[in-house]
Amino acid sequence: MIRPMRQMRRALATCGLLAVLGAAWPLAQAAEAVPPQFVGANVAQGQKYYDNLKCAACHAQRMMGSSSAMYTRADRKVHNPQQLMAFTQMCVTQLNHDLFPEEVKDIAAYLNQTYYKFK
Ligand code: HEC
Repeated sequence: MIRPMRQMRRALATCGLLAVLGAAWPLAQAAEAVPPQFVGANVAQGQKYYDNLKCAACHAQRMMGSSSAMYTRADRKVHNPQQLMAFTQMCVTQLNHDLFPEEVKDIAAYLNQTYYKFK
């Protein structure tokens, strides 16, 4: 009667391993699910630039006080990661801010993670 026990234990061990892998898989997926444009971006840094440059204040003025409506309005202009990069760059340029491309990318990645959620 020792054999079935052993098989059972092996089966349980395999199940346990699969359960662990199964639980970890969605997390790994979520971490990787960003468009190629935003791979390697520093989202926390992007949020800092976004706050420091007061991007939201001007948008809110135009969107009846809402700092997020610019990105969530039905007729928003940005429909893919390329447009998000381009629009972010355009607003940065209009403000006469001289940012490095990496910094623009950080801001766009922050906006993507917070509002657009392109994959
Ligand atoms: C002086 C005002 C002003 C400031 C400051 C400003 N923006 Fe904008 N932004 C606008 C306006 C106006 C639009 C809408 C343009 C349109 O609808 O054609 C816009 C639109 C956008 C959009 C596209 C929204 C959509 O339709 O999906 C993004 C992205 C954006 N801005 C990013 C930024 C970022 C990042 C900053 C800060 C670096 C910033 N903006 C600062 C005026 C501003």
